[in-house]
Amino acid sequence: MGGTNPYIESAAARLPTRKYKLTILPANKVIEVDPAALPYARDGLKGSILEIASGHDVEIDHACGGVCACSTCHVIVRKGLESMQEASEDELDQLDNARGLTPQSRLACQAVPDGSCDVVIEIPSWNRNLVGEVHP
Ligand code: FES
Repeated sequence: MGGTNPYIESAAARLPTRKYKLTILPANKVIEVDPAALPYARDGLKGSILEIASGHDVEIDHACGGVCACSTCHVIVRKGLESMQEASEDELDQLDNARGLTPQSRLACQAVPDGSCDVVIEIPSWNRNLVGEVHP
């Protein structure tokens, strides 16, 4: 599912103008993001962490489809937070509901790196895709 949420302000994101590396922990998946190839997928803002991850088969929960209407896409930015636009009021409102909130927390569907540095994000343990694990 993709699209936009008509009830929120559009986030003031700057798309990257040069290639940069996005590392996703704990899998340690490194993606070279090419501005010319965006968007890779349809979920979240163009150039967002969710959009890039989805286009590279990295699963980040996104119950609302990437329109800033839940907090399931919560990720922790370990490096490169300064390369992303500031969180909007709407993003901050949703983050208030996120489990394990940190000062480096962002919604993956809203945070758009501008490519000015490499970025490292971590998917919190409770948001990781548990497919393949056996539950009794
Ligand atoms: S997927 Fe719902 S806020 Fe990001």
